[in-house]
This record gives sequence, structure tokens and C-alpha cells, in this order.
Amino acid sequence: MSKVTVVGAGNVGATCANVLAFNEVADEIVMLDVKEGVSEGKAMDMNQTAQLLGFDSKIMGVTNDYAATANSDVVVITSGIPRKPGMTREELIGVNAGIVKQVAENILKHSPNAILVIISNPMDTMTYLTAKITGLPKERIIGMGGALDSSRFKYYLSQTLGVNANEVEGMVIGGHGDTTMIPVTRLATYKGIPVTELLTPEAVDKVAADTMVGGATLTGLLGTSAWYAPGAAGAYVVEAILHDQKKVIPCSILLEGEYGHEDLCIGVPVVLGRKGWEKIIDLKLTAEEKAKFDASAAAVHKTNNVLKESNII
Ligand code: LAC
Repeated sequence: MSKVTVVGAGNVGATCANVLAFNEVADEIVMLDVKEGVSEGKAMDMNQTAQLLGFDSKIMGVTNDYAATANSDVVVITSGIPRKPGMTREELIGVNAGIVKQVAENILKHSPNAILVIISNPMDTMTYLTAKITGLPKERIIGMGGALDSSRFKYYLSQTLGVNANEVEGMVIGGHGDTTMIPVTRLATYKGIPVTELLTPEAVDKVAADTMVGGATLTGLLGTSAWYAPGAAGAYVVEAILHDQKKVIPCSILLEGEYGHEDLCIGVPVVLGRKGWEKIIDLKLTAEEKAKFDASAAAVHKTNNVLKESNII
């Protein structure tokens, strides 16, 4: 029996649970929320799609009942408030840090061996917070941002190239922020052909710029932050872990000297498997890419420092 808990049954959490069930990633999926009845209702609604969609996973919704999450293999943390139009992810830290800390502590009481996937924003700092307060082995703490940002990058590339998004490869590394993420355009390909050979430098730059503000664009349209791709990206990361897929996905993980940085969580390509992140892929960055990575790390450190200044860690 495999079991995944999704904490937070808002738009992102519920979408993540729905994708996990539809793709039968786990036998059992528990959704937990603080709002009375919301998880229970969404779980029942999803279970009623099982026959229509033909899946066998079972979804259970609970209100703050952490005992029901016991012995989860993977736990996805989506708790906290989303951003409103005009807000940065970093502005959410004051509210979300306390929530994520409490959730991580409660989860580990009942699932001490779980691998934690963090979605709550500001994602890199929430991942770092989780690493600091739980003391878990670093390979069991994984921030989801790079999976989402890479998917948006491939979307914008496919739109610009006029091709199938599934035939485009590309990675976004660095922080999960409007100004900190780094779409690695040099290594992006369409069927193995570098996109830099297929698009003008201006078009490539536009794809990168659109990717970086991909979340903000959706927040502007929706009035709140996006959920279909964030939820699906969470489920994609969970599947790679639980099914031991050894997929390479950029995720926010604790660096201890890799990429020239330490004591922060930031997006780098990692191999995901049943142990969590199992290996870091060491990209040979150009001087320009390395400078962007260093600036991104400095910005993430600055947000992390708010945790220290507010005595959260
Ligand atoms: C986004 C939020 C979830 O990028 O961070 O849509």
C-alpha cells in the first residue's frame, strides 16, 4: 500500500490530489485542511469521478486530523496563502512560515519516514525552513518550483516554435521567483536540436522573460495564483519519487557546496527516486549563467534571512 498526504486542500492541493488519483500514483491519498468539511467534500467529489475516469486510488479528506496521515510515504505541503495580483511570492513569508513550520512538525509525528515535497511560497525559503526545523536527511526535502517553471518554459517554447510541448526539453534552475529563476535557454532543445538554432536571440529572450513571470501573468488573470500546473507539478514530483523513476527534474534542495553555494535551498537538476533526491546533476554553467545563479542565490539568502530576523529559525 502506498500513501501520499497532501496538506492544504485549496486549489493547488486539491489539483495535486486529483492528478495523483487520476494517474493512480498512490493507492491512498489523504487531503488535510484546516477548514472544516472542505477536504472531506473535495475528496468525496473526486471519489465520485473514479468510475467516470477509471481510477482505483482512494482519496480521503480530513480536517486537521494528522493521525489520518500516519505512515505516508510522501507528503506534499501546499499550506498557506497564495499571492494576489501585484504581490511577489516573497511577500508571503510572514504568514506562511508559521503555517509550514507547524504542518511539518505535525506531519513528522505521524510519518517520521516521509519524503516532504514543498509547494508553499516563497517555495525555496519554505523548503529551507523545513530542512532547518526538521533536521531530516537532506534528500527527503524537495521544493517543487523547478518542475513547474520548467513546464512553463517548455510551454512558452512550444508556443513560439509552433510544436508539441512534449517534444521540447528545457530546464529552469535557480530560485522560484519572478526575478530569480533561470531558464537555461542554451540547453533547451526540440527533438535534440538546440532551440537557439531554431529561434532568433530575441525570440529566445522573450520565452525566457515570459517564463520568469509565468506565475505573475496567471495571478493577474485569475486574481489569485495558478493551480492546475502547480498542482500537476507537485504530482509529477511525487510520482518520480514514489515510482522510483530516476527522472531528472530541477527541484529546490539544500546545497552544501554544490554549484558553489551552501546553506540554502535552490533549484538545481536532481535525479528523483524512492529515496528522495538521489543525485545532483552538475551542469557546466557558462560564466553568464553562473553569474545569474549567484545572483539568484543571493536573493534567496536574503529572503531566508527574514526567517532568522523573525526568530522563526
Ligand atoms: C506559481 C505559484 C504557485 O508559480 O508559485 O504559480
